[in-house]
Amino acid sequence: MTPGEAPGSSGTGSGARPRPPIRTRILRLTGGKGDRAKIAEAASVLQGGGLVVFPTETVYGLGANALSAEAVEGIFRVKGRPSDNPLIVHLSSSRELPRVARRWPAVAERLAARFWPGPLTLVLPKHPRVPSVTTAGLGTVAVRVPGHPVARRLIAAAGVPIAAPSANLSGRPSLTSPSHLVEELTGRVEVLLLGGDSPLGVESTVVDVTARPPVVLRPGGLSLERIRRTVPSVRAPSPSRRAGSSPPRSPGLRHRHYAPRARMTVYVGPPRQVWQALRTRQDELARAGVGSALLVSQESPLRGRDVWVLGSRRRPSAVARRLFSAIREADARGFPEMLVEGFPSRGLGLAVMDRLLRASEGRRVVLPPGRGRRTRAGRARPQAPKKREGSFP
Ligand code: TXA
Ligand code: MG
Repeated sequence: MTPGEAPGSSGTGSGARPRPPIRTRILRLTGGKGDRAKIAEAASVLQGGGLVVFPTETVYGLGANALSAEAVEGIFRVKGRPSDNPLIVHLSSSRELPRVARRWPAVAERLAARFWPGPLTLVLPKHPRVPSVTTAGLGTVAVRVPGHPVARRLIAAAGVPIAAPSANLSGRPSLTSPSHLVEELTGRVEVLLLGGDSPLGVESTVVDVTARPPVVLRPGGLSLERIRRTVPSVRAPSPSRRAGSSPPRSPGLRHRHYAPRARMTVYVGPPRQVWQALRTRQDELARAGVGSALLVSQESPLRGRDVWVLGSRRRPSAVARRLFSAIREADARGFPEMLVEGFPSRGLGLAVMDRLLRASEGRRVVLPPGRGRRTRAGRARPQAPKKREGSFP
């Protein structure tokens, strides 16, 4: 075994036929001359029908040749992904669009011209050349030109469109840091192409441009506000769609997502009330012998070994960048409970709240504004948390 190779077993242990172990080549990019050969090696694995994990500006992707049904089946098998959840097809340039989409409305052209390469995925009528396994049998295909230079060089070198979901095993938080990738995927894929932490930290924004007016199916790394500056009529993701109504337009939204092992609860409301409620709940759990991790903003006064600071409430992009690694770091410490401060839904905050509410399976505590009830002793105390489950703010 050479350094960078590791033995392991493939598959997810879901009861499928046993497969021979895969040796994973771990290729770390340094920004130096050696990168070219590493990208070329990864590209040839893709051409041969293999699986390559690669960096994008949003989160890491688990890629295969989008035009090969067999290669794409490997993605579903390794992730343990339900076969009714379609994949995003990645191109090296928008000039490649005719290879995977039959046509695109003028609005798609405007969005692509403005935001590609970048964290925007467009749902378009599918070209018959794209195998139906890639799109989970849908007549549409989700397409994006990623902005990360390594992703674009890799796709260009492979010479084929690359289908790539987020690299995490199905249901788990997305992967944004090399150490978490090595931990989760060694032994499952041919190549891990590692290029540092993901700059944005949340997945792309998915816009269905076959709908009129176009609609955001998944909030993500490109804010709704920015999209609307180019196409004002774009509809926000509706609460029912985001909560996973059936049948949703984006089939992936039906499935359990981003879930840590810990039971997560999101606290929303005026920040001071939220911080107080988090501390109170943590103390309460501790008295019952239950450990809990707190994920909070920089502004909160809460600190300690069991506290992860996500970033400032005023900078949702910083919170987005930290989000998935913080969830994984806290989860690795084995806390049964994870209590999280909710963030304002502006800008990338919409994607942050979407991910948190999915990770918590809708468990949230809503703290109403107000100064708190007076106790008989005349001291103020926070209002009893009002629990509403499964709905969006
Ligand atoms: O940033 C990202 O989008 C990352 C990187 C790797 O590009 N990829 C990613 O893929 O997040 P995934 O598979 O985790 O999420 C794809 C989302 C799912 O919600 C899926 O249901 C939706 O896109 N989707 C894919 N094809 C679709 C289609 N034809 N119609 C509607 N939704 C679609
Ligand atoms: Mg995903």
